[in-house]
Amino acid sequence: MNDLDPLLQDARAAFAQAATPAELEDAKARFLGKSGRITEQLKALAALSPEEKKARGALINSAKQQVEAALNARREGLANAELELQLKAEALDVSLPGRARGTGGLHPITRAMERIEAIFGSMGFDVADGPEIETDWYSFTSLNNPENHPARSMQDTFYVDMKDAEGRWLNLRPHTSPMQIRYAQAHAKKYAGAATMPDIRVIAPGRTYRVDSDATHSPMFHQVEGLWVGENISFKDLKAVYLNFIRSFFEADDLQIRFRPSYFPFTEPSAEIDMMFASGPLRGRWLEVSGSGQVHPQVIRNMGLDPERYIGFAFGSGIDRLAMLRYGVGDLRQFFDGDLRFLAQFK
Ligand code: DAH
Repeated sequence: MNDLDPLLQDARAAFAQAATPAELEDAKARFLGKSGRITEQLKALAALSPEEKKARGALINSAKQQVEAALNARREGLANAELELQLKAEALDVSLPGRARGTGGLHPITRAMERIEAIFGSMGFDVADGPEIETDWYSFTSLNNPENHPARSMQDTFYVDMKDAEGRWLNLRPHTSPMQIRYAQAHAKKYAGAATMPDIRVIAPGRTYRVDSDATHSPMFHQVEGLWVGENISFKDLKAVYLNFIRSFFEADDLQIRFRPSYFPFTEPSAEIDMMFASGPLRGRWLEVSGSGQVHPQVIRNMGLDPERYIGFAFGSGIDRLAMLRYGVGDLRQFFDGDLRFLAQFK
């Protein structure tokens, strides 16, 4: 016990009371500042004799050290408390369920197209893309469908009141068949001087347009055109290729197809292709899936090829129809409504 003990107790109490670093600095000044209580004690030493100074000085220094130790301890305590508060404020509640990012997915029609491309790709078919705004010549005339011929009304075409740079009337292509001519022309040109020309073997999937809207028709829909022209390509090749395609597409080896006589200006003979599932909800019913036929000699000529030498087959199938059958969709227009509740089912 000495006379500095009360000072020491006061200092400890004052530091303990300080709730913030600023308050603590205030308290420190009261003891260690210029006119603080410890400082006053040290100043008082001046009046003492050298002997007394030594003893008293040691006592005050010890008290000063204890005040400083208490101050530092409290500083540390306040800093820790502050850190704790900060951590608490920034804490993440990891028990909350996360917000999942939408992963998106391919549109069922895109998926069907990619499937079709992969299957025909495996049979050596090229994939071609072409304009959706077509000229009258490519949409009709080149396909052996002369101006004013009634066969032009087989499709309810959207005509565009506009001509292209060469003065040809434009329309929204009502089928992918124009791609037969576009692709074959480019192919024939490429091999014009050559002794032999590789077969033309191509599919052209894409958007098509008609004035039509009900559960199985949409004004914008999708077709895939197929064309194989060579020196010795017959109807039996068409049958094999199409059967292989449709069985692969539906992953059903027992699926049947039949060819029903029909008329298209660009083929002769022409046929509708019907298919029939051997199992599942639609089994036993013939379903029309494609137009087809042997390419008309006039069309071969319009491709820039000699119909005495080249022959082949073509077909045009509705992709939306195939997707409806594959995914069990009842109304074709649902594909294009943009309703995510519907589309998300195909992810
Ligand atoms: N273009 C026809 C349509 O849209 C489908 C078609 C039939 C395409 C016979 C062909 C074909 O290539 O040979 O109805």
